[in-house]
Amino acid sequence: MALVDVSRIPQHVAIIMDGNGRWAQAQSKPRTAGHERGADAVRATMRAARRLGIPSLTLYAFSEQNWDRPEGEINALVDLLCECLVSERNELLDNEIRLSAIGRLHKLPQHAQNRLLELSAETKSCKGMTLTLALSYGGREELTDAARALASAARDGEIKPDEIDEAAIDRFLPSMDVGPVDLLIRTGGERRISNFLLWGSAYAELYFTDELWPDFGANSLYCAIGDFQGRQRRFGLLPELEQDATARKASRELERAV
Ligand code: IPE
Ligand code: IPE
Ligand code: MG
Repeated sequence: MALVDVSRIPQHVAIIMDGNGRWAQAQSKPRTAGHERGADAVRATMRAARRLGIPSLTLYAFSEQNWDRPEGEINALVDLLCECLVSERNELLDNEIRLSAIGRLHKLPQHAQNRLLELSAETKSCKGMTLTLALSYGGREELTDAARALASAARDGEIKPDEIDEAAIDRFLPSMDVGPVDLLIRTGGERRISNFLLWGSAYAELYFTDELWPDFGANSLYCAIGDFQGRQRRFGLLPELEQDATARKASRELERAV
């Protein structure tokens, strides 16, 4: 089992859950069987994340671009979502997990929207972890919607163009309700972002694994976090020690100058 330092847990983990179709193909099963096993991996990952004390977990479940898949697969994915929103209700409530959803949710069938709204409302005071499902989601679409909303707010005098800074943009992006991404995981072997959290991942640490999503589980998450904890995040600054030394030198020079 990978070693995880529980005192340095990433605050926001986001996962591109990819590889369901290839998993099914390898088992000579229909793609939908891969999605069903993918739902088991979601449950295992959610439990592990909660146990580790990760405050926010965002899962890419269905992209805006996925609407162009065959109708049968889309219907199977929507049905699976609705089933999970029923079967996981107690799991969420018992473990203090708040459900949230981002994306162009109005494009989902009405019954799926209703179920999402109901479970989000039921879990809204859960404080253990926020589980955000990205559904009908695209990073570019989210930024486009935010630009439109900001322009309307400026037109209506609610915000001045000069007041539009990064914090204002954050407020118009639902994905930023849980803050920027610390660790972005992608399963399934591809090394790309596929239009996921473009703004919030600006300084995310990226972790790619060849493991297919249905095979992902608690131990896979521990491995990803262990890897994350071995990285040095610099945010454009110098490595910590060097940064401290440079700051000390600058302050000595400043003292000498005054
Ligand atoms: C990810 O698995 C699930 C969704 C995109 C909904 P895929 O269905 O993309 O699986 P692969 O990439 O074809 O193996
Ligand atoms: C990304 O996977 C979307 C989700 C996991 C929901 P895709 O399988 O749709 O991404 P591409 O097509 O390989 O970029
Ligand atoms: Mg895929």
